[in-house]
Amino acid sequence: MAKDVWARMDQDGMADPPEIDTTVAHSARMYDYWLGGKTNFAPDRALGDAVEQLIPTIRTMAQENRRFLGRAVRHLVREQGIRQFLDIGTGIPTEGNTHEVAQLADPTARVVYVDNDPIVLAHARALMDSSPAGRTAYLHADLREPEAILSHPALRQTLDLTRPVALMLISVLMLVADADDPWKHVATLLDALPAGSCVAVSHVTADFDPAAVGAVVDAEDEGRMTLVPRGRAEVARFFGDWELLEPGLSPVLAWRPDGAAPARPEAAYYWAGVARKRG
Ligand SMILES: C[S@@+](CC[C@H](N)C(=O)[O-])C[C@H]1O[C@@H](n2cnc3c(N)ncnc32)[C@H](O)[C@@H]1O
Repeated sequence: MAKDVWARMDQDGMADPPEIDTTVAHSARMYDYWLGGKTNFAPDRALGDAVEQLIPTIRTMAQENRRFLGRAVRHLVREQGIRQFLDIGTGIPTEGNTHEVAQLADPTARVVYVDNDPIVLAHARALMDSSPAGRTAYLHADLREPEAILSHPALRQTLDLTRPVALMLISVLMLVADADDPWKHVATLLDALPAGSCVAVSHVTADFDPAAVGAVVDAEDEGRMTLVPRGRAEVARFFGDWELLEPGLSPVLAWRPDGAAPARPEAAYYWAGVARKRG
């Protein structure tokens, strides 16, 4: 399958693709598996199933995280007047990609996607399917190199960094180890954005069920994957001094739910929040 994808990319002028290693599980493909997608391989499914043994609701949780992305983007366009998005840790394209949600609310919305996984790069064309009035771009880059993201010509051609931008960090920071200081890299990104910009974060936590999430960390460790659940205070640090919008840093199910308030907001093990840079 990967060979076929590369053949198509060569046609598109995206030569020299990095290797896709399908012999070990990968976060993007496990997430795709839990969401019911088809871009996953045996090791992804094996570790995905092992995690499901530990957290039987993992598929619902992945869907809830994805729903948060949709609610946050709609809120950012409709209520915060944002028209530009920088979505880092994009994931394998699936229903409700950031540009689809944003452009439904405003067809002129512009989105730059960033991911460091070659399999996401292989599917980047699906992320480029912009409305004619808007624009999208895809960068194969790493959150741990924020300067390279910010100075990339494709980003500069797509986003105007003198106008508000929403930085989307949805279910990605937990894949960056403390040793790589994700707070420093996020601060670099936040500093580059003008007043009125927003940042949306969702982050896996062990706060709600330490035993189950601890067991998942061990399983992922064995599968050679990094997963760093973080507590509320550690997640709050990602927002710096930006103003958290209502309802603040919340269990993901409780962040501006579309319907009635959830009966058990802590049933999905994610913290979620959106903050705005003061003027
Ligand atoms: C769980 S998926 C989340 C996808 C999407 N944001 C969502 O919430 O639906 C995490 C994505 O982050 C990407 N990722 C992990 N570490 C990254 C890094 N250091 N830089 C850029 N992307 C990264 C993975 O490749 C994967 O596609």
